[in-house]
Amino acid sequence: MLLPISLANLALSILSKFLPSEVAEHHPHARPPPPNNALDFRLRHMHATTSSARVYFADLPPGGPGAASSTSDIASPPVSIRTSPMRTARPPSFAAIARARYMSMRGQSAALDWDEDDVLGPDVTRRETLLLLAKMTSDAYFMPGASGWYNLTDEWNVGMPVGWEPDDDGFRGYVFATEDNSTVALTIKGTSIPYIGGGPTIEKDKLNDNLLFSCCCARVTSGWTPVCDCFRGDWKCNQECVETALIDDSLFYPTGVNLYNNITVMYPNANIWIIGHSLGGALASLLGITFGAPVVAFEPPGERMAAQRLHLPSPPSTHHITNVWHTADPIAMGTCTGKLSTCGVAGYAMESQCHFGNIIEYDTVTNLSWSVRLTTHPIATVIENILSKPWAAAEEQGLEVPSIKRQDDCVDCFQWEYGNFTL
Ligand SMILES: *[C@@H]1O[C@H](CO)[C@@H](O)[C@H](O)[C@H]1NC(C)=O
Ligand SMILES: *[C@@H]1O[C@H](CO)[C@@H](O)[C@H](O)[C@H]1NC(C)=O
Ligand SMILES: *[C@@H]1O[C@H](CO)[C@@H](O)[C@H](O)[C@H]1NC(C)=O
Ligand SMILES: *[C@@H]1O[C@H](CO)[C@@H](O)[C@H](O)[C@H]1NC(C)=O
Repeated sequence: MLLPISLANLALSILSKFLPSEVAEHHPHARPPPPNNALDFRLRHMHATTSSARVYFADLPPGGPGAASSTSDIASPPVSIRTSPMRTARPPSFAAIARARYMSMRGQSAALDWDEDDVLGPDVTRRETLLLLAKMTSDAYFMPGASGWYNLTDEWNVGMPVGWEPDDDGFRGYVFATEDNSTVALTIKGTSIPYIGGGPTIEKDKLNDNLLFSCCCARVTSGWTPVCDCFRGDWKCNQECVETALIDDSLFYPTGVNLYNNITVMYPNANIWIIGHSLGGALASLLGITFGAPVVAFEPPGERMAAQRLHLPSPPSTHHITNVWHTADPIAMGTCTGKLSTCGVAGYAMESQCHFGNIIEYDTVTNLSWSVRLTTHPIATVIENILSKPWAAAEEQGLEVPSIKRQDDCVDCFQWEYGNFTL
């Protein structure tokens, strides 16, 4: 039932947080154990999808990056991330989800027997946690050591795997894991969005983005070539038509499902976290609500409408999903709309505004006097200008990061009418 995909994952290896102290004493470079409630992650694999719609994984050498080229058996230091318990809901099986989606598409009830449980997730109330996760996600855009790469551990020396050429546009990222393989963090870079001043513009991505995040086939004006033929005149849109187009023409979600399944095969007993930026963040959220995985999504476009169009079952709670964004980013805020916007000029209609889960919103418009611009969307902006220093507005309230918000009353595309309209 799944479409073939083209993601490749890599893995990393974790370190020696739990090394007995006698052993640690014999390893002069071994680090002290991390503070309580932290997990140590090491890079294990790289992953990428290519236009051939396949997932590729490249392993990093055992013992951590750098081990292959080094005579030392001491692996590079791990990334230590603080954790906190979070409530998730997992579906009984992938087959049960597929069945529920199938029934929902036919208008039947699709209740699932969710298994609710507390798992360890990243402690998103800590600025340092968000900063580390943002850097891990940012690195999904770069080969180790390339300009733009954030050093998480040691210098890395790995070959360029499939899907990692600068112009490759599919999903890609890294797989990090703890030493005992109990927790795995999957990072996902989005497909290309043409930021002002660069980025490859790939028609396939534009099709995906416009199918997923526009109200009605990205028919912004009569002058646009819509990505599907569901417009029925006068703010009317055929609902079945937009759902069919999304399910038939977009590999976005099935690609992510295959990627996630691949990771569960590699790490059958792991608690899997998914971290993404932009489209990678939207994909992370869709996978997180499907599988009950803790998610941190940076600057994601609104994915709730896509989830409904894909007929994903609704879990009892979405508190395991955390969105982190700032108010000057028109993609996360869903304000990059209209033919004269920077998105519109580039041929994108990213019109959705509603997200699942919790939201940590940095009000850069008010607190930093930023103006709303597409150039504030990149993860590097979030790292350098927001997360790298204390956030005064949160500290005023005795917090490290802004307090959680929700969008439970959000409505997408309110000016549109959806139904079984004909022309
Ligand atoms: C990352 O590490 C490498 C090698 O240790 C070093 O040359 C480079 O300057 C570091 N980059 C940053 C941004 O710190
Ligand atoms: C963790 O998973 C890796 C595969 O990525 C495997 O080689 C290793 O033996 C596993 N370690 C443990 C402690 O299960
Ligand atoms: C990933 O999963 C897909 C199907 O879910 C499978 O066809 C493919 O061989 C797997 N790839 C790897 C590298 O495990
Ligand atoms: C930040 O903006 C909020 C309004 O969103 C305001 O209440 C707060 O005082 C501001 N804090 C700082 C430090 O600018």
